[in-house]
Amino acid sequence: MELREVMGRRRSIRFMRPYQPVEPEKIQLMLEAARRASHWGNVGGLRAIVVYRDSAPQETIDALFAPIAGYQIRRAPVTIVWFFDANAVDEQSDRLRELLAAGALGVGDNKKSDLEDKIIPFFDGIRDMLKGAGINEVDCGQGIAQATLMAYEQGLGTCCLGTADTEEIREQLGLPDGCRVLLLQTVGYPAESWEAGGQRPRQPFEDLFHLNEYGNPFPRSDEVITELTEDGFFTRPGPLPWREAELEFLKDALDVPGSGLI
Ligand SMILES: Cc1cc2nc3c(=O)[nH]c(=O)nc-3n(C[C@H](O)[C@H](O)[C@H](O)COP(=O)(O)O)c2cc1C
Repeated sequence: MELREVMGRRRSIRFMRPYQPVEPEKIQLMLEAARRASHWGNVGGLRAIVVYRDSAPQETIDALFAPIAGYQIRRAPVTIVWFFDANAVDEQSDRLRELLAAGALGVGDNKKSDLEDKIIPFFDGIRDMLKGAGINEVDCGQGIAQATLMAYEQGLGTCCLGTADTEEIREQLGLPDGCRVLLLQTVGYPAESWEAGGQRPRQPFEDLFHLNEYGNPFPRSDEVITELTEDGFFTRPGPLPWREAELEFLKDALDVPGSGLI
């Protein structure tokens, strides 16, 4: 599949085939994609623990909790626990030196001395801030997004589930101090059709993106929309006519509790 088609198919899959295991190689492909993402200063604080429902200790499965639609975790063959390791920031100086040596940073004769005498001391002075929330979530999100696209290219579905960085999850997984749980991501082969009821709504393009100043919408070309539609990036909007019947079928087949929202 071309990237645009993968992006067009990438939608949250909440209903997985509980009986079909996910090959470790496919999970590896996701992790390789996450690792190759750009990370600020090449620090690479994104980490993951892959939890297989059928081989992990029951206490681990029980510790994984998401307040909204968390039942998905009990049904999906795999849940990836994405977390950020702030300790990686302590090695930032070496990562910058590696970038310089790889020809990825700086130009000219002064680049080495500027890095050692100016850049590294500057970052040393704001180290605590660099470990905080903000850029690290953006950074980790880039990796998770790449992993997600790789999953869809492999015919897998995933759903991101927000959770709290609870002691229970941290203790059960044995996370070192300085690590923050960011997100749980269920992974499996879709039990729903790949369309999963159709493409989901989004806010109007014109409200989101601006040209040169706030309030001046970035121009949106119809030709580009036509091209993306032909490439499979835009697909039929939900709900498809049979979506309610599909959901009823899935609810029974997967024993989804209540409304499926909690
Ligand atoms: C960071 C993040 C956290 C999310 N958390 C939850 C969640 O806790 N529970 C849930 O049911 N869906 C969660 N979702 C899925 C969104 O609800 C979903 O992306 C949205 O409904 C749009 O659907 P789509 O992904 O199919 O386009 C999350 C998505 C993201 C990106």
